[in-house]
Amino acid sequence: MPCFRAVLPPAAAILCLFAGGQNAWADAAGRARTALAAMSRQGKLAVVMSLNAGGFPGDHGLPKGAYGSAAYLPMPATTGLPTLEISDAGLGVRNPNRVRGDAGDSVSLPSGPATAATWDPDMARAGGAMIGEEAYRQGFNILLAGGANLIRDPRGGRDFEYASEDPLLTGRMVGSTIAGVQSRHVMSTIKHFALNAIETARFTMSANLSPQDLRESDLLAFEIGIETGHPGAVMCGYNRVNQHYACENSYLLNAVLKHDWSYRGFVMSDWGATHSTVAAINAGLDQESSGDTMDAHPFFAAPLKDALDRGEVSGTRLDDMVLRVLTAAYSVGLADHPPRMQPMDVAADTLVAQKDEEAGAVLLRNEHDVLPLARTAHVVMIGAHADVGVISGGGSSQVSPIGHSPVPGRVVWPADPVWFPSAPLLGARAIAGAEHVSYDPGTDVGHAVAAARAADVAVVFVTQFSKEGVDLKSMELPDQQDALIAAVAKANPRTVVVLETSGPVLMPWIDQVSGVLSAWYPGSGGGTAIARLLYGQVNPAGRLPVTFPAAEAQLPRATIAGAGATSLLDLYFHLDQELSFREGADVGYRWFDRSHSKPLYPFGYGLSYTHFDRGGLHLVRDGQGLHARFQLRNTGTRPGAETAQLYVRVPGAQAKRLAGWSHVQLAVGESRAVDVLLEPRVLSHFDVARDRWVQSAGHYTVWLAADAEDETQPQEIVLPEVLRAP
Ligand code: BGC
Repeated sequence: MPCFRAVLPPAAAILCLFAGGQNAWADAAGRARTALAAMSRQGKLAVVMSLNAGGFPGDHGLPKGAYGSAAYLPMPATTGLPTLEISDAGLGVRNPNRVRGDAGDSVSLPSGPATAATWDPDMARAGGAMIGEEAYRQGFNILLAGGANLIRDPRGGRDFEYASEDPLLTGRMVGSTIAGVQSRHVMSTIKHFALNAIETARFTMSANLSPQDLRESDLLAFEIGIETGHPGAVMCGYNRVNQHYACENSYLLNAVLKHDWSYRGFVMSDWGATHSTVAAINAGLDQESSGDTMDAHPFFAAPLKDALDRGEVSGTRLDDMVLRVLTAAYSVGLADHPPRMQPMDVAADTLVAQKDEEAGAVLLRNEHDVLPLARTAHVVMIGAHADVGVISGGGSSQVSPIGHSPVPGRVVWPADPVWFPSAPLLGARAIAGAEHVSYDPGTDVGHAVAAARAADVAVVFVTQFSKEGVDLKSMELPDQQDALIAAVAKANPRTVVVLETSGPVLMPWIDQVSGVLSAWYPGSGGGTAIARLLYGQVNPAGRLPVTFPAAEAQLPRATIAGAGATSLLDLYFHLDQELSFREGADVGYRWFDRSHSKPLYPFGYGLSYTHFDRGGLHLVRDGQGLHARFQLRNTGTRPGAETAQLYVRVPGAQAKRLAGWSHVQLAVGESRAVDVLLEPRVLSHFDVARDRWVQSAGHYTVWLAADAEDETQPQEIVLPEVLRAP
């Protein structure tokens, strides 16, 4: 439940300290205090620095007691807590050392934008629970999951780990994933706090944004994510924010996170993101990650002891750091439910990933109902190794495929593309029969054209590989894939393109093809899901969580300086050490609205094989806030899910904002009355001087919409001024 501490009346603010999970946190805090009282200073120092677990190249074997992934931390026996075994898990559990003989590899969800494109928090939660359970069964009890950075640029190298360009959608979806992970007694982080929007020069660059814009955009995503998911830890990022390193940024960690949001978990650094002892600790960093190997030297071990002796860090602060770690661990149940090594249910877990992809793939174009495919049609699938699998994104979130990557790839840094062995071709043949579906690798354009000409429908698969640490140079599809599509479409107008990409790409051939399905990075069940969508065994219901621009010139930055740089020399010549975000808080569709630009496909957009009517919008105020009430009806011939979106223009704002949505499943002919409480912070602006959310008195326009561009159903309302504590 979200928590708004209305300051009118002021007493309400004091009552609402930490919404949801309050009892668990209170019990855990009591237990943590008791454990702390029994700890020596040495024990306390041990708790605030994790150790490298052998998951990185150059390590000298696996330390005793470590299962081998991102880090581990043996806890003092008096705490009753098991060793903290920490693994990456943006999309699935990463277990590079595969300590268990029988269960080393994991199931991967589709990429973050795919899950966000479901607009279904229950789906996100189910995915989180799946990876949490796999972690538990592999012996891990902390997952480095919960990527909540806003997607500010479609070329960002880690966009596929994040969710969306909107703070409300991001916060609710990522928070739900976190809640799912933690429901399996495995702690989740939320990361990378904050404004780690691009990868180029991430270790040094200062991402600059005014406090008001920060609060209304990236920080709002984290705020909602934290109150939705209650992650045990917040991971601060590599970059600087307004000049100060995120992991020694008192504004972010002390003022916003711990004071304004009353966050009671702990702050852990990203791997190699700690740069000091006293400055970092006094700015709010509670735990140095992998301090023995990833930082210039350990900052929290002997240097912390010295700082305590010199009085530069107080004993009270050390106790606070330890209490936060212990409280988070107890609250998630790490002491009472230590991980139990056991085989994973791979079939059930793959089904979770498949369902997520089925609900998150977005049908962008479907001229003359080229889709769904008839089972009797002769279909040729072309390109992107669709005969053996689907591509995934690279970096620390990379999951080792169960079985092997059917296309040779490298999981370890710096990473080549890895394919998951879920083949769209096999999925299609299972539905339509092998005699109806053929395959052409797409490596010889002439050959592909001949195959397309001989088929009823050509489905061209294209990929764009993205990985941590490197931004994409452009939104163009690489490797002459545009030329392949154009040639195939010329030979057969019934051409459908399946995009396996990090996010939006340019589509110069869009008018020549009949269909486009954005499948993102489809995950371990992706090939089956794509086939089921193409053949109409499921109705496409995904809606874009990011704007698809028509041209890169429409973006706030024409290019990312230094993007794609793989050498320090490259970076040196192209580096923007200061990145000021021209769009401010108006990220994505808000920027397009503000700059009166028409995207290729707007945020929120997506087609379906059925049709929906939405209408009857009326706005109602009550003690909770402003409600949008309306009717939805499935007027088509198939059951399906509809996502009705509510956008608002608030007085003084330069762009409209998503204030709520409803995701409902409707049978054929079914109608539903829907009530959506609009998010009060989206109706407000953040008043920095007063440290308050302020809903201004004035005229508001609310649209019931199919996407961010749809302005067919507006309603006006006059609202009074309301102040809300942060
Ligand atoms: C990434 C984090 C990751 C950590 C541990 C860092 O490079 O930025 O997201 O959790 O490594 O692998």
